[in-house]
Amino acid sequence: MTQQSQTWSPKAYARDAGFVPELGAAVFDWLAPEAGESILDLGCGDGVLTQKIVATGADVTGVDASPEFVAAARERSLRVDCVDGHALAFDGTFDAVFSNAALHWMTRPADVVAGVHRALKPGGRFVAEFGGHGNVAAIVTAMVAVARVRGGDESLAHPWYFPTQAEYAALLTANGFAVDRIALIPRPTPLPTGMDAWLGVFREPFFAQFGEARDEARAEVVSLLSSSLCDEAGNWSADYVRLRVAAHRA
Ligand code: BEZ
Repeated sequence: MTQQSQTWSPKAYARDAGFVPELGAAVFDWLAPEAGESILDLGCGDGVLTQKIVATGADVTGVDASPEFVAAARERSLRVDCVDGHALAFDGTFDAVFSNAALHWMTRPADVVAGVHRALKPGGRFVAEFGGHGNVAAIVTAMVAVARVRGGDESLAHPWYFPTQAEYAALLTANGFAVDRIALIPRPTPLPTGMDAWLGVFREPFFAQFGEARDEARAEVVSLLSSSLCDEAGNWSADYVRLRVAAHRA
């Protein structure tokens, strides 16, 4: 079975995951951007939250590894480059590096954190929120169960980096940061368009491995999750756990 990489449709993302930037308000508050600051938005996606930072008067650069997202962000007149977050090439450029709901896709976190450190001016801050330990645990377990029954590759059910507080704090400290605040926050998150749509946006490579049986496999995962993540009225939520952190270049 071949591993397919994640691709993004900005249209589907806005429809089925528009809550992601909306729920970025808390980490935005931790960033507290000020007019004139130079800020890097790492993994800026379609730029919804980037635009909010720009509105404060900060001078914002966005980067994202997805050409589709970069194109969508540029349509908002944002300054955005297509860059792999593992290979940031900035040097002492920014007052702050910000990231929402992106770092869990970057599975070599030491490379990311080293690049963020290099990108910051001395004393500059790193403020981020992403999936923490236990994030989407029920969803992952249901996919693993379906992979086992169907003889699929269960590693495709969990391509993400979801560290504990202690693990991430240690990584930051080892890379020259002082950690100011860090919290692991369980946050059941309503899915307005349901679990099937969420699986389609966030984990299509897992289902693609089943070829013609892809839709059946997806229906099995949805069915396994219905008793724990769907209420009596048919409203779905995802078992999100966020890791929120603020640190500065020591
Ligand atoms: C998240 O934002 O927590 C998330 C995104 C994609 C997959 C899993 C979790």
